[in-house]
Amino acid sequence: MLSKAKSLPCRQAGAGGGRKKIAVITTGGDAPGMNAALRAVIRTAVYCGMSITGVKRGWWGFLEDDYVPLDSRSASGIIARGGTFLKTRRCPRSKTVPGMKKISDNLKKIAPDGLIVIGGDGSMRAANAVAKNSGVPVIGIPASIDNDIAGTDETIGFDTAINTALTAIDKIRDTATSHERVFIAEVMGRDSGFLALSSGIASGAEFILLPEIKTDKKEILKKIKAFKGEKSSIIIVMAEGAGSSDELASYLGKMTKLKVRVSKLGYIQRGGSPSVDSRVLAGVLG
Ligand code: F6P
Repeated sequence: MLSKAKSLPCRQAGAGGGRKKIAVITTGGDAPGMNAALRAVIRTAVYCGMSITGVKRGWWGFLEDDYVPLDSRSASGIIARGGTFLKTRRCPRSKTVPGMKKISDNLKKIAPDGLIVIGGDGSMRAANAVAKNSGVPVIGIPASIDNDIAGTDETIGFDTAINTALTAIDKIRDTATSHERVFIAEVMGRDSGFLALSSGIASGAEFILLPEIKTDKKEILKKIKAFKGEKSSIIIVMAEGAGSSDELASYLGKMTKLKVRVSKLGYIQRGGSPSVDSRVLAGVLG
């Protein structure tokens, strides 16, 4: 195996003549499976004889010169852990001209042979800009609970997040049925409805509200009235980008006299140990 590996393109010399120098970064909102992707990237780099540096806290790491050398052991015991051990942060400064220049200059210094960006749609946009600015080859690995990256079937973390949401909605169903209530379960996803759609279908929700389709509250009201009290619970799975769950709850409560409760699932959807699917995808892409 090792002698075969020597002939791999990844064993060629780097820009400076010595070992290839690459860096890896996790940016934007964390997603379960980012650690598994880091593990695969680090171990592949080591296998290919490259030197690999971790950039801490997303693009901030380049702005603050916060780096960590990585080796095979850095990836030990992280495959099952949610979050990202390199940390992540939103970085508005990466969108400014001086910020982008600093990121590009530092990238050329620490990793002239390549950067691997693990993150969501905003991270992919930034990665594209960094590649153009620096001339350094950049690879994007899609990781986001939102599943909102064009050109990829699924993002790392999406499968885990829909299962987390599903578990929570199933529990909400129990209390909704016992109390004969209407529940709005608000899920994340920013401007995209994938999380709501999958968790809504899988939980047998009566309504699924997506940002991609305008919410018609009168239509929902009409349908709830048409149930004529035959249902012991009604679950509305609502994407956060589909409007205000609180406003919808107060409208439906007022118009039906039913008890309508809102449960915002929030950040629990971003945490937890990655599912098999998220880990395998992370391993393959990494
Ligand atoms: O992109 C992932 C995501 O969790 C979205 O679903 C959500 O709208 C957003 O991040 C929340 O962002 P922040 O972590 O900045 O509050």
